[in-house]
Amino acid sequence: MTAAPTTDGVLVDRYGRVARDLRVSLTDKCNLRCTYCMPAEGLPWLAGPQLLTDEEIVRLVRVAVRRLGVTEVRFTGGEPLIRPGLPGIVAAVAALEPRPRISLTTNGIGLARLAPALRAAGLDRVNVSLDTLDRDRFSRLTRRDRLADVLAGLAGAAAAGLTPVKVNSVLMRGVNDDEAPALLRFALAQGYQLRFIEQMPLDAQHGWDRATMVTADEILTALRGEFALTADPTERGAAPAETWLVDGGPARVGVIASVTRPFCGACDRTRLTADGQLRSCLFATDESDLRGALRAGADDDEMARRWRTAMWGKRAGHGIDDPAFLQPARPMSAIGG
Ligand code: 5AD
Ligand code: SF4
Repeated sequence: MTAAPTTDGVLVDRYGRVARDLRVSLTDKCNLRCTYCMPAEGLPWLAGPQLLTDEEIVRLVRVAVRRLGVTEVRFTGGEPLIRPGLPGIVAAVAALEPRPRISLTTNGIGLARLAPALRAAGLDRVNVSLDTLDRDRFSRLTRRDRLADVLAGLAGAAAAGLTPVKVNSVLMRGVNDDEAPALLRFALAQGYQLRFIEQMPLDAQHGWDRATMVTADEILTALRGEFALTADPTERGAAPAETWLVDGGPARVGVIASVTRPFCGACDRTRLTADGQLRSCLFATDESDLRGALRAGADDDEMARRWRTAMWGKRAGHGIDDPAFLQPARPMSAIGG
């Protein structure tokens, strides 16, 4: 393999892809226990000293933005709202020049209370996960009776101007796969942008099964029973969601078909875990230890060099359909969605 270029510049890989979108997991912990993500008892959480401090996170994001061409920063978890330093981290990232766009992927619990402060700190938008509108189902699916908090969080985000508010839904067969039209009706009524995400093999329990996964085609068929979906004329770019105009637009609905229509060829992501490991892909089987280098006193030049070297080794695709596919050792909650 040829070496990564050694000068400052963008995060480019051997396939010519350029990573401009940084996902930062702020914690592996969560206040829900979605059955497709975690077991009821939770997971062995990262220990305090393993976690990057707020200052370390800001330092690494600064390297990414100032030296590596990152223009989009997305905070994820676990559940990022449970990290106490979140507003301060957002404010520090918003003060970087050039200022990146800043968004957050959250389950929405606590968002009603935090949205104004996050907006004031510089957060631009949120993606809220919501898989069902039925309270009993929500309780079974997430093992917590918190639907009302999530709905309040969505409304609070919209009221605070964290727009467009996007809603992410994962459908599971026999659990909520009949709810696609109802979720879209809800999103249209509230002015949220709904995107369905195909379930990926990233659960801690390794229970994912291709045969039972609800596919993009099935979701579109279900939606077409109630709505007219037509091609969206806007450019997709590196966005993972394929979008359709609903009943002529301007409202849209998206489907992220990571499994049945992979978009790895257009991927522009680079990922940092809460314990400071760099991943070139959700499905990467190796990580690069930025925390170790940082704590050993590496300067920004050295951090940037390590980051570029790790991204240069990014694989062409996730390989879910490869017979030799291995699910990554860490679950989604520890990588960041
Ligand atoms: N496949 C697809 N999406 C997932 N999410 C969590 N686990 C999976 C999975 N295995 C979603 C959450 C949330 C976002 C962070 O990722 O529902 O919307
Ligand atoms: Fe928490 Fe998201 Fe996992 Fe649900 S899917 S348990 S909200 S991290």
